Amino acid sequence: MTGSPVLQALSPIERIGPDHRRVRVELGEHSYPIDIGSGVRHLLPEVVARIGARRAAIICARPLDAVPDPGVPALRLAARDGEADKTLLNVESLCSRFTDFGLTRSDVVISCGGGTTTDVAGLAAALYHRGVAVVHLPTSLLAQVDASVGGKTAVNLPAGKNLVGAYWQPRAVLCDTDYLATLPAAERVNGYGEIARAHFIGAPGLSGRPVAEQIAVSVALKAGVVARDERDSGLRHILNYGHTLGHALERVTNYAMRHGEGVAVGTVFAGRLAGALGRIAPDRVAEHLAVVRGYGLPWALPAGIDPHDLVAVMRLDKKSTNTGLTFVLDGPAGPELVPDVDEELVLATLTAMPHEQTA
Ligand code: GLY
Repeated sequence: MTGSPVLQALSPIERIGPDHRRVRVELGEHSYPIDIGSGVRHLLPEVVARIGARRAAIICARPLDAVPDPGVPALRLAARDGEADKTLLNVESLCSRFTDFGLTRSDVVISCGGGTTTDVAGLAAALYHRGVAVVHLPTSLLAQVDASVGGKTAVNLPAGKNLVGAYWQPRAVLCDTDYLATLPAAERVNGYGEIARAHFIGAPGLSGRPVAEQIAVSVALKAGVVARDERDSGLRHILNYGHTLGHALERVTNYAMRHGEGVAVGTVFAGRLAGALGRIAPDRVAEHLAVVRGYGLPWALPAGIDPHDLVAVMRLDKKSTNTGLTFVLDGPAGPELVPDVDEELVLATLTAMPHEQTA
């Protein structure tokens, strides 16, 4: 993949201090910085002053003091990370609280939590008064490397994940690595799912690097891709490497399988499917398993999963513009969206995947 158009998409990483890096998402008047490092949450009052907000609504899934004083009167709302709270009902209830507080469209919403919290707060901000500024303070590795960056906000429907949402770019993202210190081990491994998939879309070789560097490079990759395709009409699809199966695994396990874990298994599967289609050589297929295992991520299908159920869910994937099966797959020109993949081949590849009891 070296020299592929994807690699050239990485945005520059600016060194602000010994433990402070900055990446910009360049989107014209909607451009914004992503600060990464220990203590960067304390930039919040500066960010709020730059926005010019006079009030802030803080939606926080961590202890309420995890968010520094924003420097303006603030409403602090406790939230819970997790797919169960990613509902339109929750968005409506947040917006009602904003109204009661007197939040205007020149004020700011601040989210602090994992990707589900930044998603819900981002959607509430996108809809409230047809759009109010939002700043994200992601606290999980998964949210720092992916979910909080790029402006996708969404909630789930019973039929599937992230089926209702909006593009709403934050005004700043503060990825404070101090938040990661208290992350449960399983949640940290979960974040590596997105870093593992980044290996195949332009950010290889991050295993074993310091976490701040892993975050900065993953964010630089994402920023570069989003700057070229904000609305997911082409290049941005590559960010969903491993996600078609990943999302289906989350859904059929009723979200017992975490997002990054699903993406990890989905990445192994994407390699195998690309191999079955003759798009990549066996050593590249094997690299998928090696990278995923190297991060300590799951790489087998959970026990008791019926491949037919996975296929049924994958047909509803947002990347599909028809009823066929669509995947982001590696190939001679790098990763790209491949529509209408033969269902029998998908089923055969799923059936041949290692299953947990045989792993
Ligand atoms: N997580 C995929 C994207 O932001 O496009």
